[in-house]
Amino acid sequence: MTDTVTPIAAARAAEVLKQARRRCEPALREAISALPDPLDLMAAYHMGWCDAEGNPTDAGWGKGLRGALVFAAANACGVDGRTVVPAAVAVELVHNFTLIHDDVIDVDRLRRGRATVWTVWGVPQAICLGDALHALAIRVLTSAWPSAVGVEATSRVESAIVELCLGQSRDCAFEKRVGVRVADYLAMARGKTGALTGCATALGALCAGADSATVGRFESFGRELGLAFQLTDDILGIWGDPVRTGKPIGGDLMRRKRSFPVVAALSSGTAAAVELEELYRSATPITVTEAARAAVAVQAAGGRRAAALQADERVAAAIAALPNPNRAQDLLALIHFVTHRNH
Ligand code: IPE
Ligand code: MG
Ligand code: MG
Repeated sequence: MTDTVTPIAAARAAEVLKQARRRCEPALREAISALPDPLDLMAAYHMGWCDAEGNPTDAGWGKGLRGALVFAAANACGVDGRTVVPAAVAVELVHNFTLIHDDVIDVDRLRRGRATVWTVWGVPQAICLGDALHALAIRVLTSAWPSAVGVEATSRVESAIVELCLGQSRDCAFEKRVGVRVADYLAMARGKTGALTGCATALGALCAGADSATVGRFESFGRELGLAFQLTDDILGIWGDPVRTGKPIGGDLMRRKRSFPVVAALSSGTAAAVELEELYRSATPITVTEAARAAVAVQAAGGRRAAALQADERVAAAIAALPNPNRAQDLLALIHFVTHRNH
């Protein structure tokens, strides 16, 4: 990305995320431990808290970005993050439900460097667990706010999930579709990723008591930031270090994913685009070596640069949506993380 990277900004972003995980984790553990057996075990395994037999581990439950967005938005509305913990927990539960289903959809065997739930317990169990985490999220939200705020928060979460499912559906359909354009990709990613990050910042503001216009602006911020997040995710999906991402190398290319760098490269009119199109159209499985060659072609066709530029544009739009950037230091720190992360 093109802005100046300062160690201070990186340290601040790391601190915001760490504090958010610290705030969420006790309530997340409590909610998950209330699930009936064996859903509690499978969920705790997914979160990295235990192995498949239930022996405690400390593998980490991810970045916690969505929970951090809830806290940071509440903070920007002048409310201490501690009062919105159930909203952060609900959003993280939803996010993890979608990841468990996403790994089934994508046939991914590895997440956060560990075997995915479906590879350990099978696809039916992974579907059941995802659904249970979805329900748990709503229970957490409505127990904390059995009021108009709870109704609106629930409605926002469920609407975001519908949008997310449509985005996931389009993402899958794109694998077999020729001629996906940048605009198609952006519409898909707005649903797949932007809807839930927009919901996170909206919930932070809503539960902090903000008026509906302000909630809307925070939602726009989160949606744009989510898009920037997905663009970075796409870049990492091709050029990321698998040790850091915890995902297999070349996975997106081997599955013929039409991620942003690929879509941009294919529409570049370059020789590299022709080579890439041929590979994506072929009927045989893409090998690791071919995926490495495809990564070179995507870069040569300008796909990587186009993705980085698009991410910069989304970040600018996110900042423009903020009601008062001077009061949104934690959200600004999270922007830094989203655009400079390596995992
Ligand atoms: C995951 O999308 C987004 C959702 C769970 C909705 P991807 O398939 O692009 O992300 P990773 O690479 O598996 O995390
Ligand atoms: Mg996936
Ligand atoms: Mg996916």
